[in-house]
Parts: sequence; structure tokens; C-alpha cells
Amino acid sequence: MREKLVAGNWKMNGGLAENVVLLDAVIAGVAGLRGVQSTVCVPFPYLYQAQHALRNTSIAWGAESVSQYTHGAYTGEVSAAMLLDFGCRYVIVGHSERRALFGEEDGVVADKFSAAQAAGLIPILCVGETLAERDAGITEAVVSSQLDAVVARGGAECLATAVVAYEPVWAIGTGKTATPAQAQAVHAFIRGKIAAMNAAVANDLQILYGGSVKAANANELFSMADIDGGLIGGASLDAAEFTAICVAAQS
Ligand code: PGA
Repeated sequence: MREKLVAGNWKMNGGLAENVVLLDAVIAGVAGLRGVQSTVCVPFPYLYQAQHALRNTSIAWGAESVSQYTHGAYTGEVSAAMLLDFGCRYVIVGHSERRALFGEEDGVVADKFSAAQAAGLIPILCVGETLAERDAGITEAVVSSQLDAVVARGGAECLATAVVAYEPVWAIGTGKTATPAQAQAVHAFIRGKIAAMNAAVANDLQILYGGSVKAANANELFSMADIDGGLIGGASLDAAEFTAICVAAQS
């Protein structure tokens, strides 16, 4: 039985004072929940704050990106080892905003995935198609090649210590959620593709859905066979919403 994972992605939001209020409310909200893992991925400057707020709770924390390099003359970059220094468990790699706005292509995403794993972090690998790609009927081909870029490096086995997040680009921050059936179809495709390489890895792999998940739609999404939780953007900034999503993910 795969345990569900609810991961918040704060994106470039937050502030020291408001984070205290949000984290305290989330801690109180998820206390006592069973059978669901939760984590928040926060901007780099707030990792120290997240670490200190969350270290004695069941909530893990992580970052939203990581450098593909280990150290050296890479101005402005943050290495996986630095994230570990702040107790991170997870790091998001290949988010569509990184791909679209910061030119991160599949090769870079694969490098970041490897760098995160080499340091002992669990990468949350984001894949997903644009609306034009969906309309062109190439959703599976797009998702497949995004997965292949990573699997080509480390084999399907590298997904044994990773999480995949299917995030249709057209559903991110738009209020348009994939229907549970649309999401399930792609999740099943992803799991089937991995299963053809390594059935045990596929069976254990947590595949999250992301894209306008909120308390009101979490239950029906999470009831689908291959949806193992969510990657939550906007709703992770609202403690009541985020908590309600975690409640919906309880087994
Ligand atoms: P959203 O973002 O929940 O605001 O759509 C999801 C994400 O980008 O991870």
C-alpha cells in the first residue's frame, strides 16, 4: 500500500512573519492525521525557519529547486549539500515554471535529479504537458520523454528513491483542474511505463497530481487508483486549505 504524500510548493511567496502564522496553523492542522505524509517546499531563505518550526513535527520540508553542481563558481546557485545542511528531505526538480521561465531543459532536469539523489535528497520530479500538447494528442509522448531523460541516466531504479508529480501545465495556477479521470489516465500511463522496466519500483512509486488542487477537489482526485497525493501550489499558502487537503489524503 502506497502512503499518500501531500507536498506544498510555496513558489516565490512568503515572508518571515507570515510564515510563522502559516506553519503554526499547518502544524496544528495535521497533528494526529494518520496514513498521510506531508511536506512543504519553501524558498531558500526560509529553509532555516522551516527547519526550526517543523523539526519536531511529522511534517517534512524541502526546497523548490537545486543546482546540478556540487560547489564552486556558480553565482546564485544552491547545492544539494546546502539543502541537506538545513534538514531538507525533498526537493522539487523540473517544475514547469523552471522549465518554461528559466530554460531548464530535460538534460538539466536530469542533472539536478541526479545531484539531489547523490546528496541523499528525495527529488520530486515534475512532468506534464501544455494545453497545445494535450490538444495535439501528444500528452503521453511528452510525459514519456520527460521521464526518459531521467531514467536514461539512472535506470528505473533511480525512481525507487524519488517521487513523480504529474502536473499538466494548463492546470497550474489556472483554477482548471484535470478531471480525476484525465489525471488517472496519465498516472496509470506513467506507472505502466515504469512497470515495464521495473514492476517493484513502479508499484511503490508515489505519483502526485498537481494543478489547482484544493480542498474541494482533493477527495475525488485522491480516490483514483494511481494518484498518491498532491503537489499543492496556491492552496499550500492557506493553512485551512492545505490541512483539508491532507485530511482528504488520509487512508
Ligand atoms: P497550483 O500549483 O496548485 O497553484 O496550481 C501547483 C504547482 O505548480 O505545483
